[in-house]
Amino acid sequence: MSKVTVVGAGAVGATCANVLACREVASEVVLIDIKEGLSEGKMLDMYQTSTLMDFDTKLTGSTNDYTKTANSDVVVITSGIPRKPGMTREDLIGTNAKIMKGVINSVIEHSPNAIIIVVANPMDTLTYLALKATGLPKNRIIGMGGALDSSRFKCYLAKATGANINNVDGMVIGGHGDTTMLPLLSKATVNGVPVSQFASKEVLEDAVQKTMVGGATLTKLIGTSAWYAPGAAAASMVEAILNDQKKMIPCSCFLEGEYGQSDLCIGVPAIIGKDGIEKVVEVELTAEEAEKFAASAAAVHKTNSILHEIGAL
Ligand code: LAC
Repeated sequence: MSKVTVVGAGAVGATCANVLACREVASEVVLIDIKEGLSEGKMLDMYQTSTLMDFDTKLTGSTNDYTKTANSDVVVITSGIPRKPGMTREDLIGTNAKIMKGVINSVIEHSPNAIIIVVANPMDTLTYLALKATGLPKNRIIGMGGALDSSRFKCYLAKATGANINNVDGMVIGGHGDTTMLPLLSKATVNGVPVSQFASKEVLEDAVQKTMVGGATLTKLIGTSAWYAPGAAAASMVEAILNDQKKMIPCSCFLEGEYGQSDLCIGVPAIIGKDGIEKVVEVELTAEEAEKFAASAAAVHKTNSILHEIGAL
């Protein structure tokens, strides 16, 4: 028996709930939102796909009634406003920090042992806020960004190398921002063979650039930010936790000296299992990558400092 709550019934939250249901990751999925009827309606729609998609998961919708989320094993927080074309994720901080503070306390009150996955933006800063506002142990609050950015990186690497996408491996560390994320080209492979064997430096650099604006590119096309990949990325993390998969997933973790950084949440590879973040993996970076990671951390610290300015911390 396992229970997952997804906070926020917008496109990302509903997609996450849908992936969790279709893959039968948990026995119950609760979707909660402040908008009257939204989560109940979406969960009813989803329930009506049970026989079509061949799943048997209890689906519950709730209009802001956190008693329905009680004793969840994992809680995914997607609530907040999405960015519009031309906006950065950092532009959302004022509104989304306020929402996070309201939500996180209700979540913990009803599910004191839950592992929390933060999806809302600016993701690294809201993960840090969730950690500081609750005082929970650092293994129990995880930011989703790196899982999503790495998935986008693999897509662009597959196109660049012509390789089968499921043969491509690669990860993105650093902040979850268009200029702060750091796709690690030096570690990217096609089934263990360095990508440099399959494409020129220029083509691979182009894949890196496309990865960094992967979210912004589609936001410009749609008029609002992504949901399929963010929802699926969060769901894959839930699966790693509930099934104790010990998967290495790049995600936003609270650092205390790893990678030479402290007192921030930022994307690094971590082993994700039943205890949440079970270990931060320190990979060797090239001198250029280490320099970029330090700059990324400085940018995340700067966004975190806004939390104090607006009185959120
Ligand atoms: C993105 C948003 C969800 O990268 O951060 O699509």
